Amino acid sequence: GEEDRARRIDAALEELGDDVVVLGHNYQRREIVEHADFVGDSYQLSKQAAESDAEYVIFAGVTFMAESADIITDDDQTVILPSMEASCPMAGMAEALQVDAAWAEITAETDADVVPITYMNSYADLKAFCAEQGGLVCTSSNAEQAFEYALDRGEKVLFMPDKHLGENTAHAMGLEDETVEWDPWDPDSKAANKVVENDIILWEGDCQVHERFRVEHIEAVREEYPDASVIVHPECRRGVVEAADEAGSTADITRAVEEADPGETWAIGTEIHLTNHLQRWHPDVNVVPLCGDSCMDCNAMRQIDPNYLAWVLEELVEGRERNVIEVDPEEKELAALALDRMLSI
Ligand code: 13P
Ligand code: SF4
Repeated sequence: GEEDRARRIDAALEELGDDVVVLGHNYQRREIVEHADFVGDSYQLSKQAAESDAEYVIFAGVTFMAESADIITDDDQTVILPSMEASCPMAGMAEALQVDAAWAEITAETDADVVPITYMNSYADLKAFCAEQGGLVCTSSNAEQAFEYALDRGEKVLFMPDKHLGENTAHAMGLEDETVEWDPWDPDSKAANKVVENDIILWEGDCQVHERFRVEHIEAVREEYPDASVIVHPECRRGVVEAADEAGSTADITRAVEEADPGETWAIGTEIHLTNHLQRWHPDVNVVPLCGDSCMDCNAMRQIDPNYLAWVLEELVEGRERNVIEVDPEEKELAALALDRMLSI
């Protein structure tokens, strides 16, 4: 049962002591975050990984996060992802080969300097590509600064893979009239005939969990709770972000509820596990999921079953390293540069 498994995890952690640190993303289930040394958003966790000197970093999150941890940590540190199936579908929407082809097309059609930015939710090879082209990585908590960095150094931005984060950021910075969506899957959609007069080019990628939220959900929640504050993740559609009171990373959402006065109502537009954690952690605040019963969990995050956490830890106790995430050394150096640029802004 659950208690038994929790005891096994605790026993293994005790045995391993300072050799391991467990990082848990805000979207992980309760049975995972309860065992984490740090719980946070993808930016905070990448900083925790960089600062930790534990020999093993157990990353309870998705592949791209574990890869970033491997890139940022020292060579003698090992990153372990409890399930190799935990891959964010959005990260898979901008494959490096595809981006290479798009890049050739875009740069052939314009004399302007284009600077690529990739959202943290992407694989190491795309991060490496961005570094090579003078670009960088961003997360939902520093996208505006990344756009500023890019526009200081070039005239146009190619933003991948999340079109909504890109559009929401451009809009917040007053650049919305200059954005264009480009569908790399559509053979008729040539970047070439659009890019010339547009400064922000958005890759056609999105997150299924956040796409679901609609303005009608916000209207319904305001009708039911007239005093509610609405906060959503910037991976939501532009109309949803505009209709909400606030938008921010999972750390911003967490902070909003932490700082709420008792009795306040906060409607949360993000992955359902975080919403549930927030209600559990702050019982005096009324935390409601923005789309009621139809809010989704993230299928990739859900792959981290507590049984797998127990397994990788018990294997480590026995001296066996399972599910190690190791980025190719060549990619690693460049991807590190793209991440360092982000950490420096
Ligand atoms: P955060 O960077 O806000 O933690 O978000 C990560 C993510 O995957 C959102 O869907
Ligand atoms: Fe990827 Fe969306 Fe899951 Fe975040 S919530 S890991 S963006 S699929």
